[in-house]
Amino acid sequence: MGLHDDPLSLDRETMRRLGYQTVDMLVARISDPSIPALGRATPAEMRERLAGPEPTAPTDLEEILEQLERDVLPFMGRGDHPGYFAFVPFAATWPGALGDFVASALNVFAGSWMESAGPTQVELEVLGWFKQWIGYPASAAGSLVSGGSAANMTALACARESLVGAMSPDLVVYMSDQAHSSLARAARILGFRADQVRVLPVDETFRLDPRTVVAAIDSDPAAGRRPFFVSASAGATNTGSVDPLGELADVCNRRGIWFHADAAYGGFAVLSEEGRRSLDGLARADSVTLDPHKWLYQPYECGCLLVRDGAQLRSAFEIVPDYLRDAEAEDSEVNFSDLGMQLSRSARAFKLWLSLRYFGTDAFRVAIGRSLELAHHAADVIDASPDLEHLAPPSLGIVCFRRWFGDTSDETEIARRNAVLARLVEEQGIGLVSSTRLRGRYALRLCVMNHTSSRTDVERVLELIASADVPAGRRAPRTQMRDPGIEQGWLADSDASLAELRVVPLLAELTDPELRSIYALGVRREVPAGERIVQRWDATRDFYVVLEGSVAVEIDDELIRRLSAGEFFGELAALDWGAGFGYPRLATVVAETPVRLVVFADGSLADLVHSFPTVDAHIREAVRARLPRH
Ligand SMILES: Cc1ncc(COP(=O)(O)O)c(C=O)c1O
Repeated sequence: MGLHDDPLSLDRETMRRLGYQTVDMLVARISDPSIPALGRATPAEMRERLAGPEPTAPTDLEEILEQLERDVLPFMGRGDHPGYFAFVPFAATWPGALGDFVASALNVFAGSWMESAGPTQVELEVLGWFKQWIGYPASAAGSLVSGGSAANMTALACARESLVGAMSPDLVVYMSDQAHSSLARAARILGFRADQVRVLPVDETFRLDPRTVVAAIDSDPAAGRRPFFVSASAGATNTGSVDPLGELADVCNRRGIWFHADAAYGGFAVLSEEGRRSLDGLARADSVTLDPHKWLYQPYECGCLLVRDGAQLRSAFEIVPDYLRDAEAEDSEVNFSDLGMQLSRSARAFKLWLSLRYFGTDAFRVAIGRSLELAHHAADVIDASPDLEHLAPPSLGIVCFRRWFGDTSDETEIARRNAVLARLVEEQGIGLVSSTRLRGRYALRLCVMNHTSSRTDVERVLELIASADVPAGRRAPRTQMRDPGIEQGWLADSDASLAELRVVPLLAELTDPELRSIYALGVRREVPAGERIVQRWDATRDFYVVLEGSVAVEIDDELIRRLSAGEFFGELAALDWGAGFGYPRLATVVAETPVRLVVFADGSLADLVHSFPTVDAHIREAVRARLPRH
């Protein structure tokens, strides 16, 4: 191409020189073992380094790269650090990066067959491998998307279009409390409201019990609702647990419900023998989310949705406006813009195609199998340590555990000390671990998935966590409610009524002004004996404190517990699990005697737990004790 007066073109020599400079910088960084797993900085520090006027005049690439190296690249996560066990690690490969470079240097438009027959066929080939790996038929269809979140949303939209059509307030979606938050976000974006998403509790091994799913689903039609979508975890982000996919497929098939499997992080474990066994039943899902930018070592962004009946994906998304008629596909041609929400899309398949072919898929099998072995090794080290305990069964590369301390059983203190240990791992430069909450308990979490990690990396991190000195902490200072001045409300001026709340153990450690502010949130209610206050599987979200009388908590007419003055109920459904969704009522509550209650309406419990650490601790304790176990 000629240069004429195009202000944005370069001659060949310059292109090569800039390319080589960039490659040299990258290779040096990627192969530098001294770069830590995470570089943190405050917004003020980053502004100081980077804020400035727009660059109207040219800058030398050398200078730009220097600034990148000095002011940008040190302040980010290094997902391929061998001790990076936090969140979901993100080690990529060089051929994968080159695939991305090819796709963007040539600026491939991979939306239509007409404009990208070659890249489209590459994507079809790669998707064909994925289909084979998970056991899908050739008639399945899919598309590479930005990530697991986009894939989950595409699945929910596809299911709704295929089974129902337009959005309707009677539709209900089911998922476990271990489902990834992207599903809640997808539901919210697509217009599902709080009473249209049922978050269901899991069993001891953090898996959905099909009986719970059946009970929840079968209670909805009687209330005029239409169950239509169940999402199972095929590798839950928290613990790696895999829901019983085959049994859930049976439940859904019998009822004409769409069965989705979120295998974003865990799905590529099917490349190993152990993973294939763990993910048994995956092929029975109507749709599957996979994230090659997780356990297939691809550079961001690379997610994937596969739909077993490929025609459904196309009919859910295909729209051909006049200005795209030229690009309308023949029967045997595929326009990827008809299979998802993106029209303009890059050739994400290039990075997959390059890296899978360059190393050969057997190399990926070895890397994934090795990660699974390493995670087992981590679990063995934890088993063998007198100072560490498992908090969930290890699954698909994820190990949740914590250090326990002989001198305290206080959950807040145990959490604090374990958080100190996690920070030490980072500060000593040996890696990064993250944390989660399992049944309200603080857990450290290793996600062992990097192809760069070895036994020594795992052992070094666990050794530090098991043995580092963590001084006992002083009790955390109590934080005030955001607005302690709220004193209006139905009981604010009554000391006698304030005394009633003061004896409630949940609130016992609060000051008078704090109790008054809590009064302002609540409403008093009197209930006659025999009245049902809460009905199992309902989607109501109120939280109740009993001031007088007693209530029976029942499941299927069986008395689970009795609660009297000073105790509380309704916290499970009242807590926000994400995007405003939460558990349905998991039990029925009936007044055994005349009962006086304080009722905190939808959302108030969230305010209480955010404002008062002691209330938060009590509620967590109750969640631990009360969440049903099968
Ligand atoms: C099970 C699961 N689903 C969905 C996602 C979201 O994927 P992404 O971050 O690619 O949007 C994640 C991310 O960790 C995940 O683990």
